[in-house]
Amino acid sequence: MSNRIVLNTISYHGSGAIKEIPGELERRGFKKVFVCSDPDLVKFGVTAKVTDLLDEAGIAWELYSEIKPNPTIKNVQDGVAAFKAAEADSIVTIGGGSSMDTAKAIGIIINNPEFADVRSLEGVAPTKNHAVFTIAVPTTAGTAAEVTINYVITDPEKVRKFVCVDTNDAPEVAVVDPDMMASMPASLTAATGMDALTHAIEGYTTKGAWELTDMFHLKAIELIAKNLRDAVAEAKSGKPGSGREGMALAQYIAGMGFSNVGLGIDHAMAHTLSAHYDTPHGVACAMLLPIAMEFNKPVVAERLAEVAVAMGVNTEGMTTDEAADAAIDAVRQLSADVEIPQVCEAIKADELDQIADDALADACYPGNPRDADHDTVVELFRKIMA
Ligand SMILES: NC(=O)c1ccc[n+]([C@@H]2O[C@H](COP(=O)([O-])OP(=O)(O)OC[C@H]3O[C@@H](n4cnc5c(N)ncnc54)[C@H](O)[C@@H]3O)[C@@H](O)[C@H]2O)c1
Ligand SMILES: [Fe+2]
Repeated sequence: MSNRIVLNTISYHGSGAIKEIPGELERRGFKKVFVCSDPDLVKFGVTAKVTDLLDEAGIAWELYSEIKPNPTIKNVQDGVAAFKAAEADSIVTIGGGSSMDTAKAIGIIINNPEFADVRSLEGVAPTKNHAVFTIAVPTTAGTAAEVTINYVITDPEKVRKFVCVDTNDAPEVAVVDPDMMASMPASLTAATGMDALTHAIEGYTTKGAWELTDMFHLKAIELIAKNLRDAVAEAKSGKPGSGREGMALAQYIAGMGFSNVGLGIDHAMAHTLSAHYDTPHGVACAMLLPIAMEFNKPVVAERLAEVAVAMGVNTEGMTTDEAADAAIDAVRQLSADVEIPQVCEAIKADELDQIADDALADACYPGNPRDADHDTVVELFRKIMA
């Protein structure tokens, strides 16, 4: 059996990295950029940090920002129409997972118009052509959509979120500049940071995990355990520091891993919560993380014991079982310290059957190391009910 790794062709990291964007466009001869961002980022002037650089370099651009958190099929289709109307030849996407995922879907459909319905992109879509050339600039430290080969779109009619996996959608260039994340409030820093931790822990315990992805995931877990509390404190105080920089890098490293091996039941259940109740993705992931770890412990105790070590727990003298429990405790403590809610009040008891079915049908579920049946998933959801 062989393993595959797909990453960006080029990535830039660190404060001031966005200054590289005009040069990356110019040297490829692009004439008109389609800027894909969301309305709040436009309002707060985050998008302008990049478009000002395009203006200075004399590069023409047009903005598309009709993107909501947990973006919809309509957000994608409107974006495809806007891209065509703009007569653009390249994409720069500035935002969290929602903006970047929408941009990925737009870029894929422009070059593979037979998938214009968007729904047919679910799962591993047999697209023939690479997406439009894309530079992805994350403004949250969580999803790592700038490096992954996935994007997630919501289908409001069918009340579900679907995951698309396609090597043709990996942005050619990622620009991971912690300054672009400076305006994140503490709650968003916490939620997106816990999303990144979920990627790293699910990626480390997923069925297909192997040496190269283990390397990324363990490093990401270590960096997140070291930096997330500081990043949240920095967001509260408004004073920049090493926490934010550490999280910008950590979430990218987690993305280098999970994008190439998949995730598990936590993400399958989290997608379902977001589709039904619009729960922010990172919050959904974080609430479910210790519960998913407990469920998986019987089959991945040794791996969870290693997670404990990566999180900085001294496991000397502990049995494997105790160390695995210590990892779960460390996750619970981190989640509490960064003030993630413990319960999801929106879940309705009479919808449990439906959301359990939806979670089992999610593209992330097959990567889970332990099989679950319908009743088990209902019980797991009950653990986060008010
Ligand atoms: N492609 C992938 O591999 C992947 C992985 C995980 C999650 N996702 C998807 O990504 C989406 C979630 O993305 P997200 O968690 O990054 O959040 P988001 O993009 O949904 O943004 C959430 C909110 O935060 C605001 N925001 C973003 N950056 C900000 C900043 N710097 N300052 C102030 N406000 C800011 C946005 O305007 C928005 O209102 C979900 O749809 C999820 O399913 C994708
Ligand atoms: Fe995620």
